[in-house]
Amino acid sequence: MTHSQLCRWYLFSSVQSLQTEAVSMIARAAEQAITDSGAFHLVLAGGHTPRGLYERLRALKTNWEAWHIYFGDERCLPVADPGRNSAMARDTWLDHVPVPRKQIHAIPVEMGAKEAAAAYSATLQQVGEFDLVLLGLGEDGHTASLFPGSDWGQEAGSPGALPVYDAPKAPAERVSLSAWRLSQAKRVLFLVIGESKREAVMNWRAGANIPARAIKPLHGVDVLAESVLLKG
Ligand code: 6PG
Repeated sequence: MTHSQLCRWYLFSSVQSLQTEAVSMIARAAEQAITDSGAFHLVLAGGHTPRGLYERLRALKTNWEAWHIYFGDERCLPVADPGRNSAMARDTWLDHVPVPRKQIHAIPVEMGAKEAAAAYSATLQQVGEFDLVLLGLGEDGHTASLFPGSDWGQEAGSPGALPVYDAPKAPAERVSLSAWRLSQAKRVLFLVIGESKREAVMNWRAGANIPARAIKPLHGVDVLAESVLLKG
């Protein structure tokens, strides 16, 4: 019997106000983690939604030396391909702040999905519970690269990272953290922006078994969404 997802919805009338709250939540999580343990382990979302947020994080006043960055998923594209989630994060944010390069853990998809998933699973075994996981939501309810109809790795002890070969969102080949590994987190923050996410939001709130619902950290998940998406 797996426990159900505890989901807190925060609604915003503008993208700006949603991003402002996200910056604040990330800053608080970082401050708390660095105070408690001297390090902040953060998992980044890919796609387009977080771009504006990442740009705003450049201005954060924090001890960047204590930040350790991981990726919730990666697209199997060449290292320098701008379509890679790690490239987007670097271009919009990480190349503009002094996080030690050895503390930015890109998923080595140039090895191929299977080998990269195994290598990243080994990397993640060196990390305990994440302090914060950022996730997006796809039009079909996917998150990271966990898509409807595939294996989401929900069972306890699932591999940290999974190869994906048939993603309906190009490119088909990816690596994704498993639902179980994404759930080993003190906090999980979903960012949901854009009219195209309306149906996925409705399905999620109606209890549909979408991949986003498989993310079940002990303390629940926080969803920052545009309020217009909840209006019929
Ligand atoms: C990816 C992302 C994916 C993304 C959602 C939402 O590699 O595509 O990790 O999970 O978060 O598809 O994408 P947008 O933010 O571009 O709408």
